[in-house]
Amino acid sequence: MKQICVLTGGGDAPGLNAVIRAVVKTAINVYQCRVFGALDGYDGFLKEDGIIPLDLAAVRGILPRGGTILGTANRGNPFARKVIRDGKEVIEDVSDDFLQAVQRMGIDALIVIGGDGTLHAALELYQKGVPVIGVPKTIDNDIGGTEVTFGFDTALTIATEALDRLHTTAESHHRVMVLELMGRDAGFIALHAGVAGGADVILIPEIPFKYEAILRKIRQRVQNGSHFSLIAISEGAHPLGGKPVYARRGDEVYVPRLGGIGEQVGRYLEEQGFETRVTVLGHIQRGGTPTAFDRWLATRYGSAAVHLAVAGRFGHMVSLQNGQVVDVPLEKALAVPKRVDLNGDAVRAARGLGISFGDE
Ligand code: F6P
Repeated sequence: MKQICVLTGGGDAPGLNAVIRAVVKTAINVYQCRVFGALDGYDGFLKEDGIIPLDLAAVRGILPRGGTILGTANRGNPFARKVIRDGKEVIEDVSDDFLQAVQRMGIDALIVIGGDGTLHAALELYQKGVPVIGVPKTIDNDIGGTEVTFGFDTALTIATEALDRLHTTAESHHRVMVLELMGRDAGFIALHAGVAGGADVILIPEIPFKYEAILRKIRQRVQNGSHFSLIAISEGAHPLGGKPVYARRGDEVYVPRLGGIGEQVGRYLEEQGFETRVTVLGHIQRGGTPTAFDRWLATRYGSAAVHLAVAGRFGHMVSLQNGQVVDVPLEKALAVPKRVDLNGDAVRAARGLGISFGDE
């Protein structure tokens, strides 16, 4: 193993820089490798000056920094890339060019730090011959092959703080506060933050809700003397028999962007006579410094990815299982996306505390 390259793809997540730092330090200190970084995800291999050397100085001071020093892109899939041909925008499969670029540069291992979309592309690249190692990242925590992705803890900490802040103003004004949270089709951020932040209602994609059930809960609280309520709602939550709300439609390059369900729930509650305010927390959940847990996990993932690369375990992804960092084949890890376990202890605990999921 002589030359390792690292890239960050898809939406950013707190902890990316901690992984990059761990990759660079481990590769240089332990294995005396040369390390490179691809700029803006997969695009780095497809554009001029898209690959930069990374030495120890390049990663100094980046451990607590949010974002990624390499840049990222969530439209850079080499199997479906937007390119201009004869003045027209077309979608092309440029994976052969990608493979050739990796070979031309003499990259012995490519460490891909990404979420579901980026890692699926990594798997396909591996099947074409690119020596790939995956590192799971996403605030959504929806990757099947690991117990937790880095970035999630930071997002849930920020979401919990938002609920704490909404709590005091909700109470002062006797209002219902709706907090719309990220997570795509997985409800982990809303569930965990909702429990940690004392939400009265938690609405997640895995449990379709009924408007009347939310109303029932809020009325019940009023009857019991609580004239305010907090609702944590996942952007992917939807009513029973209804569909998720999208802020932007998807196409061959972009996945659809969720957003707007919080506003719909807020409008319904206003119509029922409850003064309601809606907050969409948005990208605040993704920006800024990672929590200690995310730095710790990201560092272990980055270090383990280098050991895997040197051991030649390509097509594998680092993963947390029972508190230990192990590795799993990408194919297996990505086969089934992770969703909230409806029979798990977290949902059970929440129900036991009287939190409504809007389903009964
Ligand atoms: O997957 C991470 C995530 O933050 C989702 O929770 C959210 O739906 C999406 O990315 C937002 O994407 P973008 O940064 O393109 O707006």
